Order: sequence, then structure tokens, then C-alpha cells
Amino acid sequence: MTEWHKSDWRAKPRVQMPDYTDTDQLTAVESRLSSYPPLVFAGEARTLRAQLAKASRGEAFLLQGGDCAESFEEFSADTIRDTFKVMLQMAMVLTYGAKVPVIKVGRMAGQFAKPRSAPTETKDGVELPSYRGDIINNIDFTPEARIPNAERMLRAYTQAAASLNLVRAFSTGGYADVNQVHGWTLGFTEGSEAARYRDMANRISDTLDFMKAAGVNEATAHTLQSVDFYTSHEALLLEYEEALTRVDSTSGQWIAGSGHMIWIGDRTRQPDGAHVEFCRGVMNPIGLKCGPTTTADDLKVLMQKLNPENEAGRLTLIARFGAGSVGEHLPRLIKAVQEEGANVVWSCDPMHGNTIKAASGYKTRPFESVLREVTEFFGVHKAEGTIPGGVHFEMTGQDVTECTGGVRAVSDEDLSDRYHTACDPRLNASQSLELAFLVAEQLSDRRGDLKEAQSA
Ligand code: PEP
Ligand code: CO
Repeated sequence: MTEWHKSDWRAKPRVQMPDYTDTDQLTAVESRLSSYPPLVFAGEARTLRAQLAKASRGEAFLLQGGDCAESFEEFSADTIRDTFKVMLQMAMVLTYGAKVPVIKVGRMAGQFAKPRSAPTETKDGVELPSYRGDIINNIDFTPEARIPNAERMLRAYTQAAASLNLVRAFSTGGYADVNQVHGWTLGFTEGSEAARYRDMANRISDTLDFMKAAGVNEATAHTLQSVDFYTSHEALLLEYEEALTRVDSTSGQWIAGSGHMIWIGDRTRQPDGAHVEFCRGVMNPIGLKCGPTTTADDLKVLMQKLNPENEAGRLTLIARFGAGSVGEHLPRLIKAVQEEGANVVWSCDPMHGNTIKAASGYKTRPFESVLREVTEFFGVHKAEGTIPGGVHFEMTGQDVTECTGGVRAVSDEDLSDRYHTACDPRLNASQSLELAFLVAEQLSDRRGDLKEAQSA
């Protein structure tokens, strides 16, 4: 790799980042953050990368999910626990369908900065700078609230550290033990998807009882008692990212210490821009959002820059085209990947191409569109003979009404009931579970296809 330094991005054109007016304050915050401990370590990022390499070959499956934007206001142990629970449930459903390990990655413990489609927001004739996530400014609709404030990075760091601490405790402290498969259900999920989950959980419990009776050994028991759970976020606010970037003492490689996996958004993936420059130099697994405007040529340049050694597990392409558009865009990008012989994980984000404004004025996503995009994604991979390696959702364990539809149908009129997101609409727990069952069906089909291919 060419010489790289964590501050090189500063010489490149940047978009979607705030202009801090108080530069002294900014410098002081950066210097403080630079002296704080990193949140994640290189060994963990390497393990995640090895697991993602398996996903690129169809030997594992990536489940990435969580808030669109974490918020200071909604921060609590309960919200983290509930999202964690739903992800465990989804992972169980997927493992059961796919019969491969599911890699669990939260949009969590650092997912604070938001790219926006417009620089300003107008309400009742008043125009103010857009809200850019709690790490940058405040969502309140006042001129003072919308001024970028660098001190917010310190609060984001503290919240991320506390969130990660809790998630690590949940992952290894007995909570994620497979024997608790019934305990992860949430009180309010009582639709047919909940019954389906109970049914599956019963079968898993039976199997566990059988294994115990048959004398499962200690090593296996340990595997079942804890999970690996990783964190991820969009690497948007590069001052924050740079300040937490360190050299790993064992390998000499740079590591972004802000989270295990980071991704580049659809609005910041300019091949010569600041965000690509930053991400190319750190050893973490990198996600790259691919949207309708991603050209095959750009993708080729980006793959070369972000993964020059073509290592499996380094790069995850997160397709987000919108229902009805996957057939138009995914095949041409798959072709670009094949022409380069590139190793990538293909993941499906069925959220960001399906955002609409409901008649009530709320930003929402019809659950049907989300399901449809996932089905189209699997369909194209089946037709192309390539591997669907993962999914990427905006979801929460809270009983929100932000996306319409689902078995416990949320209507346009219901949106105002419990609409809590600081940014994009999220799937609630029961919609998330329903979606997991759909993905599991697609995955068990894929398993059938792979078996057929092997025996042919
Ligand atoms: C996001 O993941 O919240 C996001 C803004 O996505 P995209 O960059 O794909 O629009
Ligand atoms: Co979003």
C-alpha cells in the first residue's frame, strides 16, 4: 500500500461534513479524543474480517442492523437491550434457515452522524441548517440548536463506550446463551411471526435437550453460551474518526478505533473524496453503499482503492437501489465485480431506496417495498449464480410505528402514534422478525441450490 496517514483526507474534497465555526474548540476536542482509549481493537476487526470472508463465499451470513441515527435523548440500557434481543432472534431465525453462522453487526455505539439530502430544512416558512446527527448538532428546530458543536463528539464517544460495554456484557455474560432462545422475545410481539418464532425456539430447545442428553462437550457448550457481536457506523465525521485512529502495535497497521466495521455512505463515495481517502488506509472491514447512481467504472476504481490486495472480508458492497430497481442496477455492478475478479460480500439494504413521504407528512417506508427489494436481491443473485452474503436494516427493539405495513399492519394514520426516530424510519421488532423469516426462506432456497450444484 502507498504511504498513508490518518490526516491525509484533509487534503481531499469533503462533502456532508460540518463547518465548525469555533475552530479552537474543535482542535481542543480532537486533541482530547486522540488521548482517549480506542473503543475497539485490531484483533477484533481481524476476526470480523475473517468471518466476512466466509460470508463472501456463502459459508456465513451477515446481519447488520440498528438505528438510523443513535440519539443522546433515547440512550438507555433498555433500548440497547431490546435491539440486541431482536437481533439475536433474527440471527437465530437466519441460522435455522441458512444453516450457516450469522455474523451480528449492530448499527450501534457510534452511529451518530447523518448525511442529508438537503443542507437546509424549512418549516412554516423558516429555513434552518439541517440536523446532521447528535454528534454534530441538535435536532430542535432553532438556529442555536443547529449550530455544529464539536463538544458533542465527546458525548458521542462516552455514549458509544457505554453502549459497547453493555453489548459486550450481553454477548458474553449469559444473556445470549442459546438456552435463552425463548427469553429474547419481547412482550408486545404477539403476531403470527411471534408464534412462528416460538415454534422454532421449541424445536431448538428440544435439540439442545437432546444434545445435553447425548453429552455435549465443554467446548461446544461455551460456543453456545456467548455470541460475537460487532459494532459499525458510517464513517462520516472524519475529525472524530481520525482522532480515534491508532497504529496497532502488533501489526503496525492503522485501525479506526471508533467501531469494528465502518462504511462509506451513498453520498460520500466520491473516488477522490475525503471519505474514501480515510477509509482506504484503515484495516477495519469497510462497507460501501451502492446506489442507482453508482457507475461500474466508479465501483471498479473504489474496489481497487479500498481493497488493493483483493482480500476477502475487507469489502462489503451494500446494495440500496429501491424495490423495482434492483434488476436494473445489481446485474451491472455484479458484472463489474466479476470483471475485476474482486472478492466482496454482497449485502442488501432494502431501507434507503424505499423512503417515501406519507400523506400525513411523516417519512416512512412501506414494509411491502422492503420485502420486495430483499426478494429482488436474492432473485438477481440466483440468476447470476453469485452469492447474497448479508442484509443491512434500520430497525429497533422498540414498538415503534415508523414503517407502514407488516402482519400487525401499521397504517399511514398510525405513524404519529409512536414515531421516535431521529432520522429515517425503522422497522419495529415484529416487522424485523417477519423480515428475518422471509430472508431465512430465501437462504434455505439458496442452500438447496448450492447442494444441487455440488452434487451435479
Ligand atoms: C444510512 O445508512 O443511514 C444512510 C444514510 O444510507 P445511504 O448512504 O445508503 O443513503
Ligand atoms: Co438511514
